[in-house]
Amino acid sequence: MAAMDSIRNIVILTGAGISAESGIDTFRGANDGRGGLWENHRVEDVATPGAYERDPDLVLRFYDMRRAAIQDKQPNAAHHALARLDREWAREPGRELLIVTQNVDDLHQRGGARRVLHMHGQHLTAWCGACDMRSPWTGPLAQRPPCPACGAAALRPDIVWFGEMPYRMDEIYAALRKADLFVSIGTSGAVYPAAGFVRSARELGIRTLELNLERSQGSDWFHETRLGPATQVVPAWVDELLGG
Ligand code: APR
Repeated sequence: MAAMDSIRNIVILTGAGISAESGIDTFRGANDGRGGLWENHRVEDVATPGAYERDPDLVLRFYDMRRAAIQDKQPNAAHHALARLDREWAREPGRELLIVTQNVDDLHQRGGARRVLHMHGQHLTAWCGACDMRSPWTGPLAQRPPCPACGAAALRPDIVWFGEMPYRMDEIYAALRKADLFVSIGTSGAVYPAAGFVRSARELGIRTLELNLERSQGSDWFHETRLGPATQVVPAWVDELLGG
């Protein structure tokens, strides 16, 4: 990539494609094992506050299944490569790195990355509708277990549903404003506001790079797109950036 020496601050956005080779289905595109469906419901129809109001059992069962499914999956070479970048990049003074993930799995952390922001929430915490506390959570929620903090049977998945505001947007835009490079990995560019980060980056004059299996809805916005499976293109890019 051109002008690599001038890069100091990096913002990386990841999506479901980075976890696909760990065996976690994507929502759209090549590795979507379900054709976008779960028990004949469109994911968009399960992941909404309205769906939770109408049929909480259905929604809680859906997330119980996904929460159970991620726990026997392992981080892959792409997660490990970003963890290496996370360790090595910010070691030098004046350099910053932030991994913003839309994923609700914990594979970035289990791969060893530390500077990870979950803008769509995460499976392994539960959020209490009564006391507002978030608690670590690995088991099911459908049986309405009590909140560890207040005891109310009011726990919901700590997941940002369609129509809800993603977490920590101020921090993300603050990091983008300081960045010299924005990299998008394994995301279809179909869901906003994350899909709009590349446009914001272009407006800010930031270099933009996309690493994805196939061209995405956002590809035209990037200075450069490299196509291939994340386990190949991400480690290759990290090697290039860190000089081997
Ligand atoms: N390597 C790299 N990219 C891959 C791989 C792979 N092995 N497999 C699939 N992809 C790409 C697909 O081609 C697709 O462009 O990853 C992208 C996955 O897109 P989505 O399934 O739409 O996932 P994402 O962009 O993360 O979805 C955004 O939508 O349903 C909501 O909240 C959910 O966070 C999610 C959001």
